[in-house]
Amino acid sequence: MDVSPTMPARALAGRYYTSPEVFARARDRLFHRSWQFACHASQIPAPGDYFAFSILDQDLVVVRDRDGAARCFYNVCQHRGHVLVEGTGRTRLLVCPYHAWSYELDGALRNAPGTRGLPNFDRESVCLTEVRLDEFCGFLFVSLDPDAPPMERAFPGVAQAVRAFCPDVEDRKFAHEHDTQESCNWLVAVENYNECYHCKVVHRDFASGVIDPQSYNIRAFGAAKCLHHTARAQTSKTAWYDTSGSDYASFFLWPAFSLQIYPSGLVNTYHWRPLGAEATHVYRGWYSRDGAVDDRLQRVIDLDRDCTFAEDLQLLRRVQRGLGSRGYRPGPLVISPSEGIDSEHSIGKLQEWMCEAVDA
Ligand code: FES
Ligand SMILES: [Fe+2]
Repeated sequence: MDVSPTMPARALAGRYYTSPEVFARARDRLFHRSWQFACHASQIPAPGDYFAFSILDQDLVVVRDRDGAARCFYNVCQHRGHVLVEGTGRTRLLVCPYHAWSYELDGALRNAPGTRGLPNFDRESVCLTEVRLDEFCGFLFVSLDPDAPPMERAFPGVAQAVRAFCPDVEDRKFAHEHDTQESCNWLVAVENYNECYHCKVVHRDFASGVIDPQSYNIRAFGAAKCLHHTARAQTSKTAWYDTSGSDYASFFLWPAFSLQIYPSGLVNTYHWRPLGAEATHVYRGWYSRDGAVDDRLQRVIDLDRDCTFAEDLQLLRRVQRGLGSRGYRPGPLVISPSEGIDSEHSIGKLQEWMCEAVDA
C-alpha cells in the first residue's frame, strides 16, 4: 500500500470516538448512505421468509417475494407507523399488529380492515417504502441511499477476488452466529479488527492456532474502500485444526462488515451495528456448505469466541475509556514501509475514510 502524504500519521483525536455530534454525522453521512450487511441469502430461502433488523434508528425488513427475489423495506406500517414485524419467520402477508393492515411480499397494500367502500380511500397509493438491496457473494446488503452505486461499483473487483480465493463461497449457508454488545464506538471496534499489531501481544492463540503471524499483511484493495487481510495458514502442531488446503484472507468492506475465510475454507463474518457513540453490537457469523456445524467447525467457533473474540471485548472497553481521557494526546501510527503484521497502514486508511465522511 502506498503511504500517501495525506494519510494521517497520528491516531485520530478522542472526540471522533466519543462525541455524540460526530456519531450523528457518521449516522447521517455514512451509515445512512453506505452498504450495510442485512443477512445471508440462505437465511431467507423461501418466498415469505423475512429477516428484520435495524441500521441505527431505522428499522428494516428483508423479505423473499413470491418470485424468489430478495427485497428490503423500511419496517414500518404506512397507516400510523407501527413497526410491522420483528425477528425472523415465514409469512404469506406482512400484517401490522396494530390495526391489521396487511401488505403483499412486494410491499403493496393488500387489505385495510373497514375501508371497503370508503370514499377517498385510495388503496393503490399505499405501499411499503422500498430500500436498495444488492447481493455480494451470497450476502445481502442494503443501502438507505436510493442513489448509492451498486456494490460492484462501490467495491470494484472485490467480489471477484473473494470468488477467486474461495470458489464455492456462493454455495455457503448460514450455520451459526453469536453476538454481543461492545462498550465502545463502532470505529474503535473496526480499527481494532483491522490491525494485527496487537495479535502477538493479545491473540497468542489465534497467532499460533490459525495464521502464521510472520506472514500477516493488510492492504487497501485498489481504489475500493476495502481492506484485504492475507496470511499463510498456521501449520505447526499448535494449529486449532487441519488448516491444509488454503490460506487465510479477509475482506473488510467499509464501514462495518468483514468476510473472512479461515484456512481450509472456513467462511465467517464480523459485522457491527452502531448503537450510540460509545456502544456497538457485534455479530460473528459462520457459514458452511450444508448449513450444519460439524465437530471441526464447532471447535473453531468455540476457540475463536473464547480467545480472539473475548480478548478483543476487553481491549475495546478499555480503549474507549482511554479515548475519553483528558490526558490522551493521539500518538503516532506505526507505519512500516515494508508493511507486515506490525504496521498500521490500515488504521491510516480507516481514519482517512472516517474524516472524509464526517469532516467534509
Ligand atoms: S399502524 Fe399499522 S395498521 Fe395501524
Ligand atoms: Fe483483536
